[in-house]
Amino acid sequence: MSEETKIITEMIVGASQKAREETSNEPEPELTQPLQWPVKAMIGPGLEGAIACESKIGYVNGSKGWLIYRGYDIFDLCAYSTFEEVSYLLLNGDLPTASELDNFKQKLVSYGFLNQTLRLLMSSPVESMNTMSAIRLGTLLMRRTITPLDLEDGNPFRADFINCDEDSIPMETAPKGEVHAIYEFKRPSDDMDNNEACIHLIAGLATITAAVARIHQGRMPIEPDPDLGHAANLLYMMTGRKPTPVEERIMDIALILHADHGMNASTFAAMVVASTLSDIYFSVGSGIAALNGPLHGGANEQVVRTLMEIGGPENVPAWVKETLSSKGKVMGFGHRVYKAYDPRARVLSVLAKFLAETNESIKPLFDTAQSLEKEVVSQLGTKKNIFPNVDFFSGIVYSCLGIAPEMFTPIFAVSRVSGWTARILEYLENNRIFRPRAMYTGEFNKQYVPFDQREGKK
Ligand code: SDX
Repeated sequence: MSEETKIITEMIVGASQKAREETSNEPEPELTQPLQWPVKAMIGPGLEGAIACESKIGYVNGSKGWLIYRGYDIFDLCAYSTFEEVSYLLLNGDLPTASELDNFKQKLVSYGFLNQTLRLLMSSPVESMNTMSAIRLGTLLMRRTITPLDLEDGNPFRADFINCDEDSIPMETAPKGEVHAIYEFKRPSDDMDNNEACIHLIAGLATITAAVARIHQGRMPIEPDPDLGHAANLLYMMTGRKPTPVEERIMDIALILHADHGMNASTFAAMVVASTLSDIYFSVGSGIAALNGPLHGGANEQVVRTLMEIGGPENVPAWVKETLSSKGKVMGFGHRVYKAYDPRARVLSVLAKFLAETNESIKPLFDTAQSLEKEVVSQLGTKKNIFPNVDFFSGIVYSCLGIAPEMFTPIFAVSRVSGWTARILEYLENNRIFRPRAMYTGEFNKQYVPFDQREGKK
């Protein structure tokens, strides 16, 4: 850990202590014992309160504001771990040994070279596509080859592949904006089973997201640098610049924070698709689709637009009054589970403050955010248990890292793909297709009316 990043660890440890002090008198955790199915539960609209399955992967305690991955507290993982290690933890159940982590990292790097997939992706109008639809397309293109997932006998279909270098494709030798682009087609991995597919997707989503960011800048994608870690490569492939140790550490922590969060809408969507025994690429595509919604992962981009619309701390009281009186929602606040501060917002808040202090252009946004946080918590905190959630400060952190707002939600997906794939693997161990009910409140015994006797009918 470098001197510069030590201060970040200390800030997170401080945020952890503050969280403990503020929530120590909350009731003890519940819903943490094995279940005897079938179970009784109070269920509201949107399956609120329904228990979909048992899981050892992650636990959210809404009254305490706790988030735990495989038994480890999120504050400790942010202070001391990395996204690669956390992804391994979520997928495999415990922290890796040095050789296990090294092997996992090597797989992530090798799966991150997706030149053929990017070449196919770039045959679509990515520059004018919604960034989430572009990364969803890229994920599905990763699944273009017939793999063991398609074949009964599990022998991989030997896709023909072209081995080429820059000379053989002159029109792509020196594309605009880039020093070089190498289209080296690799043989698809022979043992692409679900476990490998998870690592393929975790690696690939970062490369695809970065490529979409570059194309939206009017530039060509950049290959990952095998000497960089996952978070550093994400920033490098997006910005074309190798990040500083502080930038890398903060990106890494942001990826850790967004990796898993219980039965949120996108994880549930991914699991529903997987429960039909469709494959994990389709499932991740469904997770991306669900995450796109502004009530879910799409809120982070809306928050920055809200802060820009408010225009400064002095305008916050009037804006909040107007928004709440018209029953509007303040993006980045509230949560179905957290009725205390989202622990992720606690960490992102100190990171945003740290970065904004030395970023002239973002500092005003952060000042407005602090004023908005104070105003909304004073009005809705105790009254409705509404506090900042993970999306409130993440956009400020990403803006300080030079990332455009349209990439905020795709970056959420780059992280959450670890939670999606881990929970899919776990659920498939005792799979049961998801099939809830709808209460029919319609009519009965209606007589069919032939078309020519319907005049005047609506
Ligand atoms: C994420 O599930 C997860 O874990 C999600 C997530 C993850 O990691 O996967 O944590 C990530 O999605 C975070 C949430 C990002 N979304 C937003 O920030 C959008 C704004 N938030 C709201 O839309 C809302 O808080 C939800 C959707 C997050 C939760 O909504 P609920 O639990 O369905 O609550 P609700 O809409 O029924 O509201 C209850 C009351 C209402 O007031 P009354 O009608 O009772 O008077 O609280 C009010 C709401 O009007 N309320 C808000 C509010 N959120 C709820 N009022 C103002 N601003 C808000 N943000």
